[in-house]
Amino acid sequence: MNENIMDKIVSLSKRRGFVFQSSEIYGGLNGCWDYGPLGVELLNNIKQEWWRSMTYRDDVEGIDSSILMHPRVWEASGHVENFTDPMVDCRECKARFRADQIDESECGNKAFKGRKAEKCMQEGKFTEARNFNLMFKTFLGAVESHEAVVYLRPETAQGIFVNFNNVRECSRQKLPFGIAQIGKAFRNEINTKNFLFRTREFEQMEMQYFVIPGSDEEVYEYWKHERLKWWTELGIRKERLRLSPHPHNKLAHYARAAVDIEYEFPFGFGEIEGIHNRTDYDLSQHTKYSGKKLEYFDDSAKQRYIPYVIETSAGASRGFMAFLCNAYDEDEAPTAEGKTEKRTVLRFHPRLAPIKCAVFPLVNKDGLQEVARLITDDLKKTFNVFYDESGAVGRRYRRQDECGTPYCVTVDYDTLKDNTVTIRDRDSMKQERINKDLIRNYLVEKLY
Ligand code: GAP
Repeated sequence: MNENIMDKIVSLSKRRGFVFQSSEIYGGLNGCWDYGPLGVELLNNIKQEWWRSMTYRDDVEGIDSSILMHPRVWEASGHVENFTDPMVDCRECKARFRADQIDESECGNKAFKGRKAEKCMQEGKFTEARNFNLMFKTFLGAVESHEAVVYLRPETAQGIFVNFNNVRECSRQKLPFGIAQIGKAFRNEINTKNFLFRTREFEQMEMQYFVIPGSDEEVYEYWKHERLKWWTELGIRKERLRLSPHPHNKLAHYARAAVDIEYEFPFGFGEIEGIHNRTDYDLSQHTKYSGKKLEYFDDSAKQRYIPYVIETSAGASRGFMAFLCNAYDEDEAPTAEGKTEKRTVLRFHPRLAPIKCAVFPLVNKDGLQEVARLITDDLKKTFNVFYDESGAVGRRYRRQDECGTPYCVTVDYDTLKDNTVTIRDRDSMKQERINKDLIRNYLVEKLY
């Protein structure tokens, strides 16, 4: 894998409708991306898989809290004071850099393409580092005054902490239990980079697991293991994953222990999920700032305490990019003339694939289209299915390989005689004949 592969993935993403630049016709908006018809299916499938694995269990409840929250939330959480990155400006080209990432950055002057920003720093072109808060500000209501300032949430977690009492009371959960949510988060990153990796608007899939103090280290290990398993069960290659514990001096202001799950992208390893032991930091802070007790009464021990929190925080958009890079492959496929041709294939786990099955009539006559249409309409009640009657069948296979469609069904003249179709597997390219009434069961078996 190399940078060249990344370029191919970005270009395929646009060509096939996975990802577009935001506001492209106006020249784009830095750090923001739009998901196209295939992209939104992939993203939804990732989120659905996460939701299924995290909330369809007895000890985790789901919520969906609002993006705008009371401004005191962010004072209590420490984000107003601590959610900053050190920033420097180049006096000459006016580019802005994260002071802790200068070694990875290039000079902002296009005329000096490839020049390391470090060199400009050594030449004394940079200002002193200043702290820059990453939260986006806006105003609630019609008056743009200091009192009306609210923030676009930089993490979904706080919506969970402030709802701790609500969820515990309505669900009657006892410790340990978790609250999960998926939602947009916003960070005014100083430098965005690497396609979807560091953006200003993105989605998180977070779960806060509330535990008895003292059991936190064991539960932290449990979730580390569970989350690693989730990524690999959905096809992420083990050799492209690693765990990267945070050294003590690099821990976030709220964390006692933290580990990143990192994926090896074409440009190198990068975090896709963080697992943190947040102790009782957040619930204590919200208790202090709101005056409302966020605690738990342990019936059996007859004790009242503030639970500790183990957090799993995955990026849906970063996960999207990891699944896309992980799926990208090039190999050879046989042609109708008995030769081979290069093919690009996205080897998504079938559950993540945007289209589950494509249906083709072999030729566009003698009633084959009508049968293929009927099969498509019937399967569409359960799956995202694509009907395609244009071009040679080989071309249609190539198009579906590029979208990652795991199965293609072809209706031919035998279908009219014996009700069978061919079903072709994306990865092995092998075909088998099955009765057309069994396609749904076949797909269900392969998918679940
Ligand atoms: N609540 C804890 C928290 O937000 P984080 O490590 O700052 O922790 C968690 O973020 C995850 O959110 C990251 O692992 C990453 O997947 C995603 N993420 C964070 N910043 C991002 C950005 N600017 N663009 C895309 N994804 C981002």
